[in-house]
Amino acid sequence: MDISCTDKELFLFKKIAAVAEELAMPAFLIGGYVRDKLLNRPSKDIDIVCLGDGIAFAEAVAKRFNPKPAVAVFKTYGTAQIKIHDVELEFVGARKESYHRESRNPEVIPGSLQDDQNRRDFTINALSVSLNKDDYGSLIDPFNGLKDLSIGRIVTPLDPDITFSDDPLRMLRAIRFAAQLGFEIDSKTFEAIQRNAKRINIITQERITEEFNKIMLSKKPSIGLALLSDSGLLDIIFPQMMALHGAENVEGIGHKDNFYHTLQVIDNISQHTKDLWLRWAALMHDIGKPGTKKFESGSWTFHGHEVLGSKMVPKVFTKLKLPTNEKMKLVKKLVFLHMRPVSLTKENITDSAIRRLLFDAGEDIDSLMMLCNADITSKNKVKVRRYMQNFELVRKRMEEVEEKDRIRNWQPPISGELIMNVFALSPSREVGTIKDAIREAILDGIIPNKYEEAFQFMLEKGKELGLTPVQAFVIG
Ligand code: CTP
Repeated sequence: MDISCTDKELFLFKKIAAVAEELAMPAFLIGGYVRDKLLNRPSKDIDIVCLGDGIAFAEAVAKRFNPKPAVAVFKTYGTAQIKIHDVELEFVGARKESYHRESRNPEVIPGSLQDDQNRRDFTINALSVSLNKDDYGSLIDPFNGLKDLSIGRIVTPLDPDITFSDDPLRMLRAIRFAAQLGFEIDSKTFEAIQRNAKRINIITQERITEEFNKIMLSKKPSIGLALLSDSGLLDIIFPQMMALHGAENVEGIGHKDNFYHTLQVIDNISQHTKDLWLRWAALMHDIGKPGTKKFESGSWTFHGHEVLGSKMVPKVFTKLKLPTNEKMKLVKKLVFLHMRPVSLTKENITDSAIRRLLFDAGEDIDSLMMLCNADITSKNKVKVRRYMQNFELVRKRMEEVEEKDRIRNWQPPISGELIMNVFALSPSREVGTIKDAIREAILDGIIPNKYEEAFQFMLEKGKELGLTPVQAFVIG
């Protein structure tokens, strides 16, 4: 069999083989490690199944090392882990499982290797390799997983209704593997996902989101997202995204299907970044469109969809148990600002509009521009070229203004503290009003970004509000 293992791996396998012989407990490599090795993909976690007590086996393996590595024992699952350098070995005794409808926690009884392979999710994940003296290194492939690996097919070893009903998370895994490996899901397996989709409700949100994010991080996320939609799973796990579907037509005037547009935008941005959160921003950039859609004066409008969309971000993140930290804030901000560079290309681009954009986007301006570029999905080549040229122009103007005014991460020259000292104020609304007015005046180009001019402007604003400066601050 054509598995190219590292010397370190071969050394480990020899030790495991020696333990298998000593304890008379046949052992086998199984699952994702075998699959990934055959596909020539990197793989660090090695699953070993043995005929007997997996925990005792792991302890015997650990003893053969000097110094002895710690064994992490998970009694409830009957598994044990050993970490040797950067390789994680997981040991389990071969088992038979029987599931109950309302839970994904199976009743486990010891079984044969064949029983253990039967309970695995897909034929490509049921492949095993013997570590035993008689047939060391031979592949045990009762379901033709090797063929499925070569033709790129995801299919369950048993009746798919049983495999998915046993553990509904596998429906998402099927789609995730299709996305990650560029494989096709067998039609009977896919129909079973459609039939069993509702059972995903017994899976915890954390596990669902983990699989969803793996789909988002695949090379072309649209593959997995379209399958999620077609299977009925997306409707259950992320209905707001499903609502983007449809191209309505009134009086012969239609609008683009925002679902497929969104998929294209995610694929576009994924060609430029592996950052999960930028991909999430692409996913959510138009999420406010269904809620703002109107047909008025003969055309479709989505006014304010970026505002509604950005408000939806925390709700979706909370529901999906995604982190509600600065990553969420970034996604929210990018969704909120994603129309700004586009609107700039439509008008005369003033310095003040550019300054405002730089100020509002701050250090995320490059991410925002990346999102806006990805958002251009028109099939009309002339239009695409025009948009691209306009963006180039905006980019150039941003560089010029940035060079001149250094607005990125900029702080206005007058602080709130100074305003309080000058007018003998304690923290109050007036301080905020004056501070905002100075910032706006600089961004609008009414006054230059300089201390003296800003100080003078502050005195005038104070006067308008009926405030008198403390004597020491009166100039001249
Ligand atoms: N497995 C399964 N059903 C699941 C999860 C796992 O049958 N719901 C089996 C599969 O044989 C799988 C093995 O357990 O190959 C190991 O699972 P895991 O480490 O979660 O996934 P991998 O297949 O190794 O893939 P990845 O590491 O990419 O998640």
